[in-house]
Amino acid sequence: MDRQAPRAGFTDVDRESDPRFYIRCLDAQHASAFKQRYKRRTFDLLELRPGQRVLDVGCGTGQDALALAAAVAPDGRVVGLDFSRTMIDEARGRSRGKALPVAFVRGDVHHLAFADDAFDRCRADRTFQHLPEPRQALAEMVRVTAPGGIVLIVEPDHESRLFDSPYPDVSRRFFAFRNSSLRQPGVAHQLYALFKEFGLTEVAVEPLTEIATEYASIAHVAQFEGGMRIAQRYGVVTEEEADAWLAHLAEADRTGRFFHAFTYFITTGRKPA
Ligand SMILES: C[S@@+](CC[C@H](N)C(=O)[O-])C[C@H]1O[C@@H](n2cnc3c(N)ncnc32)[C@H](O)[C@@H]1O
Repeated sequence: MDRQAPRAGFTDVDRESDPRFYIRCLDAQHASAFKQRYKRRTFDLLELRPGQRVLDVGCGTGQDALALAAAVAPDGRVVGLDFSRTMIDEARGRSRGKALPVAFVRGDVHHLAFADDAFDRCRADRTFQHLPEPRQALAEMVRVTAPGGIVLIVEPDHESRLFDSPYPDVSRRFFAFRNSSLRQPGVAHQLYALFKEFGLTEVAVEPLTEIATEYASIAHVAQFEGGMRIAQRYGVVTEEEADAWLAHLAEADRTGRFFHAFTYFITTGRKPA
């Protein structure tokens, strides 16, 4: 039996049956206090100043690019780049009338159409987990960053997700199956070595953990009920195991004992001057 989960759609949003589903998904995530917290931290670590040129890779709906543009205005410039036409159209619509120095372009991070050293800061937020070739993508980000500039990538680490359950073996099989739907489920903890490999200096990794003690706060992204039934269909868990695991989840949530932890790693490095 095939144990490979169906691929997650952020790799090629435009080819999905409902591309706007992914816009709604990003908006729901954007509303979370934790997401706002880690995003603010990435902005701090970028040491943004007016006048800088910034590239936001995999910019999605462009919300972060707008925040970056406000930080480098009036004479700086932000480019939001995304592989998806749907995302770029949405980002352009949202930036209209904002009078910020930001432009949105469609492109593939594996082959950036920018000159060497074109940006002072280069950032990617939850994009690398969806890429077929993260090494090539990072090479491109480093290439377009100017000497002395900062490269920053933030990713959740799907391979160290924790969920308190009396059925840890079911959790392990279920999460491994879910992770197989992603191109790079462990890229968050692989970037440290990759940054070193590309000769970046001052390489640092900062963890931020999203603790959820109410299932409702993560249900729209986690979708454990539907996901567990898919795992059952693929033969990863039995019906009895799925029933027991989900019954515990509901009971833990009802009695205030639900516990789920998901760590985001922010990796930063500087291109040698
Ligand atoms: C999970 S979303 C994150 C969007 C945004 N960074 C945020 O945090 O809200 C991942 C984004 O990466 C884009 N993406 C996927 N593959 C890409 C590629 N090869 N080049 C550029 N963008 C890509 C997707 O279209 C999507 O908008």
